[in-house]
Amino acid sequence: MNVLVVGSGGREHALVWKLVNSPSVETVYCAPGNPGIAELAHCVSIAADDHAGLADFVRGNGIGLTVVGPEIPLVNGIADYFSAQGLPLFGPSKAAAQLEGSKSFCKALLAKYHIPTAKYAVFTSADEAKAYIRKEGAPIVIKADGLAAGKGVVVAMELEEALAAVDSMMSDKIFGDAGSCLVVEEFMTGEEASLLAFTDGTTVVPMVAAQDHKRIFDNDCGPNTGGMGAYAPAPVLTAELQRQVAAEILQPVVDALKREGCLYQGCLYAGLMITADGPKVVEFNCRFGDPETQVVLPLLASDLAEIMLACVQGRLHEVPVNWQQQAAVCIVMAAGGYPGTYSRGEAINGIAAAQREALVFHAGTAVKDGQLVTNGGRVLGITAVNSDLAAAVDKAYEAGRQIEFDGMQYRRDIARRALR
Ligand code: AMP
Ligand code: GLY
Repeated sequence: MNVLVVGSGGREHALVWKLVNSPSVETVYCAPGNPGIAELAHCVSIAADDHAGLADFVRGNGIGLTVVGPEIPLVNGIADYFSAQGLPLFGPSKAAAQLEGSKSFCKALLAKYHIPTAKYAVFTSADEAKAYIRKEGAPIVIKADGLAAGKGVVVAMELEEALAAVDSMMSDKIFGDAGSCLVVEEFMTGEEASLLAFTDGTTVVPMVAAQDHKRIFDNDCGPNTGGMGAYAPAPVLTAELQRQVAAEILQPVVDALKREGCLYQGCLYAGLMITADGPKVVEFNCRFGDPETQVVLPLLASDLAEIMLACVQGRLHEVPVNWQQQAAVCIVMAAGGYPGTYSRGEAINGIAAAQREALVFHAGTAVKDGQLVTNGGRVLGITAVNSDLAAAVDKAYEAGRQIEFDGMQYRRDIARRALR
C-alpha cells in the first residue's frame, strides 16, 4: 500500500518514519513535508489545507491511505471530502473533530454524558463572562472556543489577569473569531498526562501514556509553548488509572459521539489532569500530539498502517496493537527567543552525530544553499529509546549535545518528574 502523510512538523516526521517501517507499506509520500521527512519519503509541495489538490494527488498515485497530522484540515472537513470520493483517510470527520475545534461543543458533550472534566460556563458576552469570573474568583481558566494554535488558554492566577484575558479575546479579538465565544473553567490541580488512542468509532485502543512539557523553561517556568519535550510511558498514569481513563473517559466519549451521529475515527488525544478526585479531561485533540507522537510511535511494535486502515474500515478489533517494553524520551531543540520572536536561517550542525544514538525528527528546518538551517520555533526533536526511562534520558541528552545552531535552547529536565 502507498500512504500519504499530510503535514510538515516533528509529528509528521515521526508518522512518516513509522509508516516507512510498516511491513504493509510500499511507498510513503508527504505533503508538504520537511527536509528530514524528504530523506525517508517523497515530499510533494501541496499545502495541508488544499483538500482538492491532495485528493487529486491520492487518486493519481494509487494511494491507499491518507494520514492527516494537523488539526486544521480535519476541523475544516478534509475527512468528509475524502470519504465522499471513496478515498480512505485516517482522521475524524468535521463533525467529530469539533471535539478539538470547539471547546464549548466538547464541554457540552462531556456534561451531557457525565464524563469527568472541570466545571464550566460558556459566554458570548464579555460583561457576562466578567460577572461570572468575579463571582467564581481566581484562580480560573479562560479559553477561546475555537482553534487558536494552542495559545487560546489563559490560566489566570489573579482576577485581574482573568478579566484582561476576556478583553483581549473578546474585545481586542487577538484570536479573531475563535475568541467570540469563551469557555470559563474551574482551575484544576494535579499532574497532567496525555493518553492517545486509536479508534474506529466503536473500539478504542489506548496507546502508551505520555507526558508533554509545555513551558519553555526548566521546572515548568516561563510561557507555554507547543511542547518542549515528552516521554513515555508516563508513570503518573498507572495501569489502574489507564483502565479508569479508558473506561470513564475515552470509551464513553467515542460512544457519545456515535450516539450523536458523528462517528469518531482516527487518533483521539485526551489531555488529562490527574486530580485528587481522579482523572479529568483538560482537552481533547482530534489528532496525534506533538511532541507526544515522537515518543509514542517509537514504542509501537505493531504495523501502524495496518492499525490505521483498520480504524478507517471499522475493524480495529481485528488487528494487534502491541508495545515494546521500553521507554522513549524526546527533547525539543528550539530557536532562541521561542515562543516569542526568533530568527530563522541559522545553520544546523551535528545531526549525523546525534543520529548515531537517537532519532532526529525535523520540526522547523529548511535547506538553504545546500545547508540545513532553522525555519521555525521548534527546530528538532531528539528521541532516544532505551530499556528504561533514566537510560533513555541519558541517551537523548547525549545525542542532543551533538546538535549546534545559534541561539539553540532546550530544557534540561525532560522526564525528571517521572524519575524523582
Ligand atoms: P489546553 O489547550 O486546553 O490543553 O490548555 C493548555 C494548558 O492550560 C493545559 O495543558 C493545562 O496546563 C492548562 N489548563 C487548561 N485547562 C485547565 C484547567 N481547567 N485547570 C488548570 N489548568 C488548565
Ligand atoms: N502536545 C500538545 C499537543 O499536541 O496539542
